[in-house]
Amino acid sequence: MTQVGSPHSRVDGRLKVTGAARYAGEVGAPGLLHGYVVSGTIAKGRITAIDTAAAEAVPGVVKVFTHANRPRVPGGDEAYQDAVAPPGQPFRPLFNDRILYSGQPVALVVAEDFATARHAASLVDVRVEAEPHQTDLDRAAAYVPSEKRQGIAPPPGPRGNADRAFAASPMRVANEYRIASEHHNPMEPHASTVVWEGDGKLTVYDKIQGVKNSQDYITAVFGLSPENVRVISPFVGGAFGIGLRPQYQLFLAVMAALDLKRSVRVELTREQMFTFGYRPGTINAVAVGANPDGKLQAIRHEAVAGTSSFEDYQEVVVNWSGLLYHCDNIALNYKIAKLDTYTPADMRAPGAPLGVVGIESAIDELSYLLKIDPLELRLNNYADSDENEGKPFTSRELRAACRQGADRFGWSKRQPEPRSMRDGRELVGWGMATGIWEAMMMPHTARATLTADGKLEVACATADIGTGTYTILTQIAADSLGLPMEDVTARIGDSSLPEAPVEGGSWTAASAGSAVFLACEKLRETLFRHARGMDGSPLANASIEHVRFRDGWIELRTAPSEGVRIAEVLRAAGLNRIEEQETAQPNAETKEKFSQYTHAAVFAEVRVDEQLGVARVTRIVDAVAAGKIINPKTARSQIIGGVVFGLGMALHEESMLDHRLGRFMNRNLAEYHVPSNADIPEIEVIFVDEHDDKANPLGVKGLGEIGIVGTAAAIANAIFHATGRRVRSLPITIDKLMG
Ligand code: MOS
Repeated sequence: MTQVGSPHSRVDGRLKVTGAARYAGEVGAPGLLHGYVVSGTIAKGRITAIDTAAAEAVPGVVKVFTHANRPRVPGGDEAYQDAVAPPGQPFRPLFNDRILYSGQPVALVVAEDFATARHAASLVDVRVEAEPHQTDLDRAAAYVPSEKRQGIAPPPGPRGNADRAFAASPMRVANEYRIASEHHNPMEPHASTVVWEGDGKLTVYDKIQGVKNSQDYITAVFGLSPENVRVISPFVGGAFGIGLRPQYQLFLAVMAALDLKRSVRVELTREQMFTFGYRPGTINAVAVGANPDGKLQAIRHEAVAGTSSFEDYQEVVVNWSGLLYHCDNIALNYKIAKLDTYTPADMRAPGAPLGVVGIESAIDELSYLLKIDPLELRLNNYADSDENEGKPFTSRELRAACRQGADRFGWSKRQPEPRSMRDGRELVGWGMATGIWEAMMMPHTARATLTADGKLEVACATADIGTGTYTILTQIAADSLGLPMEDVTARIGDSSLPEAPVEGGSWTAASAGSAVFLACEKLRETLFRHARGMDGSPLANASIEHVRFRDGWIELRTAPSEGVRIAEVLRAAGLNRIEEQETAQPNAETKEKFSQYTHAAVFAEVRVDEQLGVARVTRIVDAVAAGKIINPKTARSQIIGGVVFGLGMALHEESMLDHRLGRFMNRNLAEYHVPSNADIPEIEVIFVDEHDDKANPLGVKGLGEIGIVGTAAAIANAIFHATGRRVRSLPITIDKLMG
């Protein structure tokens, strides 16, 4: 039996549920000081004066930092560019008197304890001069970003003539589909604890999806050398993308620690979690044209999304429309518009669920026009290759996902007419949509260390943001050396470990997993060499293909009783450890010749109370094709989490801007609605068999994000089927269903 493929519970689960796992805001240090952020209240303008006297007079307050007394920061403009920054000038906390968005940090009060800092912060008097602001996407000027964001593919060029083909199509749908801004709201708020180690040395506990990103940011901005800055983040209490970039609490905590030569923690409040990145509100204009037989003739998709005044945030919104269907006439466009808000941030499958709401709603509308089952319409226009790039896929079992999902859901029993599946006072609706996300791999290094006691440690600087990374790395390593799970430890979340990118984009299983696999394979070879060389070794004449690593032994495949104990190999060789490091690289030739995507087919059942307009999701089946599944249990959890996010997008989540004030108003979890237990139905996850020998050495495709993509669209489509009412603005709240 192998560990890979087994539904292991999380190896870090016990630490988490017992509270033994320490998060960035929980780490103690002698003489630790606490910083509290004073947040600005206007969207645009400048600070004319800050009176800190009353705050400074509070016993226990150590210092109040503002732009006026901020210590000099050696890094230039570029220093603030972190690994995933979009083009532009990143926000610089306390940089000058300019106010760029509502909620911007304008002062940091540092005190002996948190309560004192918080109280004193309320006494800081900030005078401002407001200037006219613009936070309304409908009024802001949209433009095509001149500089492309690294790693974000711009829309492909047009194919055929979409305008002409659309005009000539007998069956046409053209509408606008909107999705509200959302905030990530991880359970753990952002926090940084900076431990002053003396001599300018810092150990930084940060809430971050990539410790190297924080380390590079700190060294660049503050002009420190990497040996003097160690960033640690072993546990992350949810992130969903908001932990990809270093946030302002990190800057403030490091600045204060360096200035005061003391340990400092800055932790944000839930309200302050609404004062930086968010998923940008997005408007999709989608037009699809078809022949009466259902053959797609034209797809036009243009999306407009907000960004800040200082960075050109970009994500992939429209490209998916050119990937899901075979169509000869396609025009895709993506624009952004500057708003006086903070820069949006990647949020679970950034861009994809937004664009997919557009295309998958339009295809659904087309199916009613054509009187063709929405699933059949999709299968009849299935794209077998990547028509955006003119390449084959490394694998694409979307058709199988559609079929298996439909079977499990019972789709064949669907009555096609809207409002035809009533149950008492409830209207029942069945809807579906497909989802797609890139299956990426990034260069990644890992180290494997076997010690004389027969224990194996694998280590790299990646993160586990709740996704199960610790567990799958342990499984991959255990299989490689044939060790039980208990004898293997994964160590991550520390900048002193081998190089890793941020944990994001669903690429960690493929990237960190492949690096751990390669390091372990190398270690295996070294170990085998030593085993062969032992006096009287039963393996002396064997090659590595002839042996099996099992239960702490290396044994001959043909004669399992002939073998040597791993711990004995090290002893005989006089070694107390064997250590190997390897870097996994994406295969350049594969990348050039193939496209790699993950797919899903989502089926949703909703019930809508006709009198009250309350919509409930009562059933979801998500069939996912994501290559090899390393751990069916953590994989299923990832999909469930993604589906819940999609449910939130469909029915609940909305960060509401008051354009008069230019600020997000619902800045707490009472007013920012997320699905809670009672909102979440039975979610069935199917993993379709998908063999991929090209995507990466492991054949995995990643699961962190695909669960959200398609879910909101499937629910919106189910609501139309239930009610006959097409709501083209998400979330679909009661007022929109009743109004
Ligand atoms: Mo993900 S939005 O790349 O953490």
